[in-house]
Amino acid sequence: MAVGAAAPALSRPGTAPLLRAEGITRHFTVSGTRIDVLHDCTFEVGRGEVVAIVGQSGSGKSTLLNVLGLLDRPSSGTYDFDGVDTTRLREGARSRLRGEGIGFVFQQFHLLERRTALANVGVPLVLAGVPALRRRARARELLESVGLEHRLHSRPHQLSGGEQQRVALARALSRDPALVLADEPTGALDAASSTMIMDQLLEQARVRDAAVIVVTHDPKVAERADRVIQLVEGRTR
Ligand SMILES: Nc1ncnc2c1ncn2[C@@H]1O[C@H](COP(=O)(O)OP(=O)(O)OP(=O)(O)O)[C@@H](O)[C@H]1O
Ligand SMILES: [Mg+2]
Repeated sequence: MAVGAAAPALSRPGTAPLLRAEGITRHFTVSGTRIDVLHDCTFEVGRGEVVAIVGQSGSGKSTLLNVLGLLDRPSSGTYDFDGVDTTRLREGARSRLRGEGIGFVFQQFHLLERRTALANVGVPLVLAGVPALRRRARARELLESVGLEHRLHSRPHQLSGGEQQRVALARALSRDPALVLADEPTGALDAASSTMIMDQLLEQARVRDAAVIVVTHDPKVAERADRVIQLVEGRTR
Protein backbone atom coordinates (compact mmCIF):
# COMPACT_ATOMS: atom_id res chain seq x y z
CA MET A 1 0.00 0.00 0.00
CA ALA A 2 1.17 3.53 -0.74
CA VAL A 3 3.17 5.56 1.75
CA GLY A 4 0.98 8.08 3.57
CA ALA A 5 -2.28 6.32 2.68
CA ALA A 6 -4.80 8.13 4.84
CA ALA A 7 -7.48 5.50 5.49
CA PRO A 8 -7.54 4.14 9.05
CA ALA A 9 -7.68 0.70 7.35
CA LEU A 10 -8.30 -1.73 10.19
CA SER A 11 -7.80 -5.27 9.01
CA ARG A 12 -11.24 -6.29 10.23
CA PRO A 13 -13.79 -3.52 10.04
CA GLY A 14 -16.22 -3.64 12.94
CA THR A 15 -13.77 -5.07 15.47
CA ALA A 16 -12.19 -2.88 18.15
CA PRO A 17 -8.63 -1.83 17.29
CA LEU A 18 -5.80 -3.50 19.18
CA LEU A 19 -4.23 -0.16 19.91
CA ARG A 20 -5.06 3.48 19.60
CA ALA A 21 -2.61 6.38 19.96
CA GLU A 22 -4.31 9.73 20.36
CA GLY A 23 -2.43 13.03 20.30
CA ILE A 24 0.81 11.46 21.50
CA THR A 25 3.65 13.90 22.11
CA ARG A 26 7.09 13.23 23.57
CA HIS A 27 9.70 15.77 24.50
CA PHE A 28 13.04 15.44 26.24
CA THR A 29 15.01 18.05 28.14
CA VAL A 30 18.74 18.05 27.46
CA SER A 31 20.94 20.52 29.39
CA GLY A 32 17.91 22.71 30.10
CA THR A 33 16.80 22.78 26.45
CA ARG A 34 13.54 21.13 25.46
CA ILE A 35 13.60 18.87 22.41
CA ASP A 36 10.19 18.11 20.94
CA VAL A 37 10.41 14.74 19.24
CA LEU A 38 6.82 13.54 18.71
CA HIS A 39 3.90 15.83 17.90
CA ASP A 40 0.24 14.85 17.95
CA CYS A 41 0.63 11.29 16.71
CA THR A 42 -2.81 9.76 16.22
CA PHE A 43 -3.55 6.38 14.66
CA GLU A 44 -5.04 2.95 15.26
CA VAL A 45 -3.76 -0.52 14.56
CA GLY A 46 -6.11 -3.46 14.18
CA ARG A 47 -5.64 -7.03 15.42
CA GLY A 48 -3.53 -8.99 12.97
CA GLU A 49 -2.67 -5.87 10.99
CA VAL A 50 0.86 -5.28 9.66
CA VAL A 51 1.98 -1.64 9.76
CA ALA A 52 5.32 -0.22 8.65
CA ILE A 53 6.65 3.01 10.14
CA VAL A 54 9.03 4.84 7.84
CA GLY A 55 10.81 8.19 8.11
CA GLN A 56 14.20 9.84 8.08
CA SER A 57 16.80 9.19 10.74
CA GLY A 58 15.88 11.27 13.79
CA SER A 59 12.20 11.60 12.83
CA GLY A 60 11.14 9.83 16.05
CA LYS A 61 10.46 6.26 14.91
CA SER A 62 12.22 4.52 17.80
CA THR A 63 10.81 7.04 20.26
CA LEU A 64 7.31 6.22 19.03
CA LEU A 65 7.98 2.48 19.16
CA ASN A 66 9.16 2.80 22.77
CA VAL A 67 5.86 4.46 23.66
CA LEU A 68 3.85 1.80 21.80
CA GLY A 69 5.89 -0.91 23.54
CA LEU A 70 5.17 0.57 26.99
CA LEU A 71 8.90 1.08 27.49
CA ASP A 72 8.33 4.82 27.71
CA ARG A 73 5.43 7.13 28.54
CA PRO A 74 4.29 9.94 26.25
CA SER A 75 4.60 13.53 27.51
CA SER A 76 0.92 14.00 26.62
CA GLY A 77 -1.83 12.20 24.77
CA THR A 78 -3.31 8.78 25.43
CA TYR A 79 -2.30 5.30 24.40
CA ASP A 80 -4.89 2.52 24.63
CA PHE A 81 -3.60 -1.02 24.27
CA ASP A 82 -6.02 -3.96 24.20
CA GLY A 83 -8.81 -1.78 25.59
CA VAL A 84 -6.72 -0.39 28.46
CA ASP A 85 -5.75 3.27 28.80
CA THR A 86 -2.07 2.64 29.53
CA THR A 87 -1.31 6.24 30.43
CA ARG A 88 -3.28 5.72 33.66
CA LEU A 89 -1.48 2.53 34.69
CA ARG A 90 1.22 2.26 37.32
CA GLU A 91 4.59 0.78 36.39
CA GLY A 92 3.82 -2.75 37.66
CA ALA A 93 0.63 -3.02 35.62
CA ARG A 94 2.36 -1.58 32.57
CA SER A 95 5.16 -4.10 32.73
CA ARG A 96 2.69 -6.97 33.15
CA LEU A 97 0.73 -5.79 30.11
CA ARG A 98 3.99 -5.43 28.17
CA GLY A 99 5.20 -8.92 29.12
CA GLU A 100 1.92 -10.59 28.23
CA GLY A 101 0.93 -8.58 25.22
CA ILE A 102 3.99 -7.33 23.37
CA GLY A 103 7.03 -8.99 21.80
CA PHE A 104 10.11 -7.03 20.67
CA VAL A 105 12.60 -7.59 17.87
CA PHE A 106 15.54 -5.18 17.61
CA GLN A 107 18.12 -4.49 14.92
CA GLN A 108 20.96 -5.84 17.07
CA PHE A 109 19.07 -8.98 18.18
CA HIS A 110 19.96 -8.48 21.89
CA LEU A 111 20.46 -12.17 22.66
CA LEU A 112 22.25 -13.41 25.77
CA GLU A 113 25.73 -14.37 24.51
CA ARG A 114 26.44 -17.21 26.91
CA ARG A 115 23.07 -18.89 26.49
CA THR A 116 21.89 -21.34 23.85
CA ALA A 117 19.14 -20.56 21.37
CA LEU A 118 16.76 -22.65 23.49
CA ALA A 119 17.62 -20.73 26.64
CA ASN A 120 17.34 -17.36 24.89
CA VAL A 121 13.87 -18.15 23.59
CA GLY A 122 12.88 -19.30 27.08
CA VAL A 123 13.85 -16.05 28.82
CA PRO A 124 10.38 -14.39 28.67
CA LEU A 125 8.91 -17.68 29.92
CA VAL A 126 11.24 -17.65 32.94
CA LEU A 127 9.94 -14.17 33.73
CA ALA A 128 6.37 -15.48 33.31
CA GLY A 129 7.05 -18.29 35.80
CA VAL A 130 6.64 -21.15 33.30
CA PRO A 131 8.24 -24.37 34.69
CA ALA A 132 11.50 -25.54 33.08
CA LEU A 133 10.17 -28.55 31.18
CA ARG A 134 7.29 -26.68 29.60
CA ARG A 135 9.64 -23.80 28.82
CA ARG A 136 12.02 -26.04 26.93
CA ALA A 137 9.21 -27.68 25.00
CA ARG A 138 7.75 -24.31 24.04
CA ALA A 139 11.15 -22.87 23.07
CA ARG A 140 11.88 -25.94 20.93
CA GLU A 141 8.52 -25.64 19.18
CA LEU A 142 9.11 -21.93 18.48
CA LEU A 143 12.61 -22.53 17.13
CA GLU A 144 11.23 -25.27 14.91
CA SER A 145 8.58 -22.86 13.62
CA VAL A 146 11.32 -20.46 12.45
CA GLY A 147 13.34 -23.29 10.87
CA LEU A 148 16.04 -23.55 13.55
CA GLU A 149 15.42 -27.08 14.83
CA HIS A 150 19.05 -27.91 13.94
CA ARG A 151 20.46 -25.00 16.02
CA LEU A 152 18.74 -25.46 19.39
CA HIS A 153 21.98 -25.70 21.36
CA SER A 154 24.03 -23.08 19.49
CA ARG A 155 25.09 -19.89 21.21
CA PRO A 156 24.62 -16.56 19.41
CA HIS A 157 28.25 -16.31 18.21
CA GLN A 158 27.84 -19.72 16.57
CA LEU A 159 24.89 -18.46 14.51
CA SER A 160 24.67 -16.28 11.40
CA GLY A 161 23.04 -12.83 11.68
CA GLY A 162 19.84 -14.10 10.07
CA GLU A 163 19.75 -17.11 12.41
CA GLN A 164 20.28 -14.88 15.44
CA GLN A 165 17.40 -12.70 14.33
CA ARG A 166 15.18 -15.77 13.94
CA VAL A 167 16.05 -16.73 17.53
CA ALA A 168 15.11 -13.18 18.58
CA LEU A 169 11.84 -13.52 16.66
CA ALA A 170 11.07 -16.86 18.34
CA ARG A 171 11.77 -15.20 21.71
CA ALA A 172 9.44 -12.29 20.84
CA LEU A 173 6.67 -14.80 20.08
CA SER A 174 7.18 -16.98 23.15
CA ARG A 175 4.25 -15.56 25.12
CA ASP A 176 1.95 -15.35 22.10
CA PRO A 177 1.77 -11.55 22.12
CA ALA A 178 -1.06 -9.67 20.43
CA LEU A 179 1.53 -7.20 19.11
CA VAL A 180 5.06 -7.64 17.77
CA LEU A 181 7.18 -4.49 17.58
CA ALA A 182 10.24 -4.62 15.35
CA ASP A 183 12.77 -1.77 15.12
CA GLU A 184 14.70 -2.23 11.87
CA PRO A 185 14.79 -6.00 12.31
CA THR A 186 16.55 -6.46 8.97
CA GLY A 187 18.91 -3.49 9.31
CA ALA A 188 21.94 -5.62 10.14
CA LEU A 189 21.22 -8.37 7.60
CA ASP A 190 22.07 -9.01 3.95
CA ALA A 191 19.28 -9.05 1.38
CA ALA A 192 18.66 -12.81 1.48
CA SER A 193 18.51 -13.00 5.31
CA SER A 194 16.40 -9.87 5.35
CA THR A 195 13.80 -11.47 3.08
CA MET A 196 13.82 -14.61 5.18
CA ILE A 197 13.28 -12.73 8.44
CA MET A 198 10.40 -10.74 6.98
CA ASP A 199 8.87 -13.97 5.61
CA GLN A 200 9.11 -15.52 9.07
CA LEU A 201 7.87 -12.43 10.89
CA LEU A 202 4.81 -12.05 8.66
CA GLU A 203 4.06 -15.78 8.52
CA GLN A 204 4.34 -16.23 12.28
CA ALA A 205 2.24 -13.13 12.94
CA ARG A 206 -0.43 -14.39 10.53
CA VAL A 207 -0.54 -17.86 12.09
CA ARG A 208 -0.86 -16.33 15.57
CA ASP A 209 -3.11 -13.42 14.54
CA ALA A 210 -0.62 -10.95 16.03
CA ALA A 211 -0.38 -7.36 14.82
CA VAL A 212 3.06 -6.24 13.66
CA ILE A 213 4.52 -2.74 13.70
CA VAL A 214 7.84 -2.67 11.91
CA VAL A 215 10.15 0.34 11.69
CA THR A 216 12.16 0.18 8.50
CA HIS A 217 14.28 2.11 6.05
CA ASP A 218 13.86 -0.65 3.48
CA PRO A 219 11.18 0.04 0.84
CA LYS A 220 10.92 -3.72 0.19
CA VAL A 221 9.95 -4.30 3.82
CA ALA A 222 7.45 -1.42 3.82
CA GLU A 223 5.87 -2.77 0.63
CA ARG A 224 4.86 -5.91 2.46
CA ALA A 225 2.86 -4.09 5.14
CA ASP A 226 -0.94 -3.63 4.99
CA ARG A 227 -0.36 0.05 5.70
CA VAL A 228 2.50 2.51 6.00
CA ILE A 229 2.70 5.32 8.56
CA GLN A 230 5.17 7.99 7.63
CA LEU A 231 6.82 10.02 10.38
CA VAL A 232 7.98 13.45 9.32
CA GLU A 233 9.75 15.41 12.05
CA GLY A 234 7.72 13.59 14.68
CA ARG A 235 4.33 13.93 12.98
CA THR A 236 2.39 10.98 11.59
CA ARG A 237 1.24 11.20 7.99
N1 LIG B 1 16.28 9.99 25.66
C1 LIG B 1 16.45 11.01 24.80
N2 LIG B 1 16.87 12.21 25.24
C2 LIG B 1 17.03 13.24 24.39
N3 LIG B 1 16.76 13.19 23.07
C3 LIG B 1 16.33 12.02 22.58
C4 LIG B 1 16.16 10.87 23.41
N4 LIG B 1 15.71 9.85 22.64
C5 LIG B 1 15.64 10.36 21.39
N5 LIG B 1 16.00 11.65 21.35
C6 LIG B 1 16.04 12.50 20.15
O1 LIG B 1 14.84 12.31 19.45
C7 LIG B 1 15.05 12.32 18.05
C8 LIG B 1 14.41 11.10 17.44
O2 LIG B 1 15.13 9.95 17.84
P1 LIG B 1 14.71 8.48 17.41
O3 LIG B 1 15.70 7.56 17.97
O4 LIG B 1 13.29 8.26 17.76
O5 LIG B 1 14.85 8.60 15.81
P2 LIG B 1 14.66 7.48 14.70
O6 LIG B 1 13.61 7.98 13.76
O7 LIG B 1 14.45 6.16 15.33
O8 LIG B 1 16.06 7.54 13.95
P3 LIG B 1 16.95 6.35 13.29
O9 LIG B 1 16.32 6.07 11.95
O10 LIG B 1 18.30 6.98 13.14
O11 LIG B 1 16.95 5.17 14.21
C9 LIG B 1 16.54 12.41 17.84
O12 LIG B 1 16.86 13.74 17.47
C10 LIG B 1 17.14 12.07 19.18
O13 LIG B 1 18.31 12.77 19.43
MG1 LIG C 1 15.58 4.38 15.42
